[in-house]
Amino acid sequence: MSHNICVVGLGPGNIEFITGAGVKSIIEADIVIGGKRQLDEIKTILKDQETYTLGKLDLLKTFILENENQKIAVIVSGDTGYYSLLTYLKRTFSQINFKVIPGISSFQYLFSKLEMTWENFSLHSVHGRDFNYVKEILNSNKGVVLLTDSINNPIKIAKDLLEKGIENIEVIIGERLSSSDECITRFKIKDYEKYNRNYLMNVTILRKI
Ligand SMILES: C[S@@+](CC[C@H](N)C(=O)[O-])C[C@H]1O[C@@H](n2cnc3c(N)ncnc32)[C@H](O)[C@@H]1O
Repeated sequence: MSHNICVVGLGPGNIEFITGAGVKSIIEADIVIGGKRQLDEIKTILKDQETYTLGKLDLLKTFILENENQKIAVIVSGDTGYYSLLTYLKRTFSQINFKVIPGISSFQYLFSKLEMTWENFSLHSVHGRDFNYVKEILNSNKGVVLLTDSINNPIKIAKDLLEKGIENIEVIIGERLSSSDECITRFKIKDYEKYNRNYLMNVTILRKI
């Protein structure tokens, strides 16, 4: 395999936050692969590249193998190094040389909006997976960052922590960050019931107070 695949972090979603190197690699690609939302966001910089919308991973594998001689850019949300498709691509195509261009992660963007630094927070995910955030919050320095979703959502997590007697926490939820309907919600964990609603695509900071 002599493939040339570039994996590009789009950043939190709005194209204004992609790096210049990321834009260049998309412009230079023959084929651009991404989720529907990501492809919509970058359409203004696409020229006549073919696009492929991500769906089932076995179909993606076949598509990439069939396009061995094309220059491919794969767009992922946020940063390439934080729960992205890069892990699957590296595992599946171990002989391919990848070029990886990082992006601003959703959590980095959220911390920047809060004018806070994140070096003393631990970074995890409950997006489509289990994670023992109770143990993590007890062991953490300033707190924990979690990629959350509509099932493993911040309200469910707040309720669970409170039931386990963990009270000194501020919950900070970033929804649809960098989009026109971005929303950041902050509350003390004991007040979680007042904030019980459906949260759109979200990342959550559990900050010790
Ligand atoms: C597959 S993970 C990708 C994470 C990504 N690599 C990153 O660095 O942010 C998807 C999760 O990222 C978070 N996420 C991505 N973009 C977001 C945004 N614009 N606003 C809020 N959360 C976002 C959500 O927690 C979502 O469930």
